[in-house]
Amino acid sequence: MAGRESGAEKQRQAFQFYGRRKGRPLRKGRQFLFDELLPRIAISLIEGETLDPARLFAPKKRAYWLEIGFGGGEHLAHQAAVNPEVGFIGCEVFESGIASGLSHIAERNLENVRLHPEDARVLLASLKPQSLDRVFLLFPDPWPKRRHAQRRFVNRGNLDRLAELIVAGGELRIASDDPTYVEWTLQHVPVHPAFQWQAETPSDWLDRPEDAIETRYEKKAREAGRVPHFFRFRRR
Ligand SMILES: C[S@@+](CC[C@H](N)C(=O)[O-])C[C@H]1O[C@@H](n2cnc3c(N)ncnc32)[C@H](O)[C@@H]1O
Repeated sequence: MAGRESGAEKQRQAFQFYGRRKGRPLRKGRQFLFDELLPRIAISLIEGETLDPARLFAPKKRAYWLEIGFGGGEHLAHQAAVNPEVGFIGCEVFESGIASGLSHIAERNLENVRLHPEDARVLLASLKPQSLDRVFLLFPDPWPKRRHAQRRFVNRGNLDRLAELIVAGGELRIASDDPTYVEWTLQHVPVHPAFQWQAETPSDWLDRPEDAIETRYEKKAREAGRVPHFFRFRRR
């Protein structure tokens, strides 16, 4: 529908995006998933309308979790498979990542995942306040150079918006292996009035949460000798 497209397109143009959207051409099978499965589970944003995640699932779900920048989609698919009573939204901009996510969803026949194959900030701007129970931001692009700091997903504007969207008692999970981003996260999130860091001992940030699995990016980080950090913040 033209109205839907122009709404999403206008919002997309409002945000400058610096990462990669396209890589190598998709293999035939993945292109098929892009053409057939994606239209069935992609979220349509309507200009001026607020999106309530509960409306995306029938019957309604117990809770709604969002993963921002799901990469290959292995963590999203794992969480969706072990939490069938939760409705999941996954956001990713990189075409090969979206295709990989789709193949995980198809292989496991997951009915509780919807995708926003676009900039997560466009979705965040449209979501209904207090409609998310948990948000994952796993290994966001670190943009370690100081002059690129304003590109980091963790920033006051995005945190303010996430604070509006996550219910009291909900959770924001952030992982990073980049020392600059780890420090940046700790400088920005625990000082935000809405978020409280849930950590008491080093294992709380050095061990991956038990219910999570290793993502492709985490694996690469460990192989390269970098130390992944896992932060859990409770929405006050
Ligand atoms: C370093 S990768 C990590 C991927 C995955 N979370 C993992 O742990 O393997 C960061 C991902 O975030 C995606 N990304 C960056 N900015 C985004 C945005 N504004 N909205 C949605 N995805 C984004 C990138 O395309 C990339 O796939």
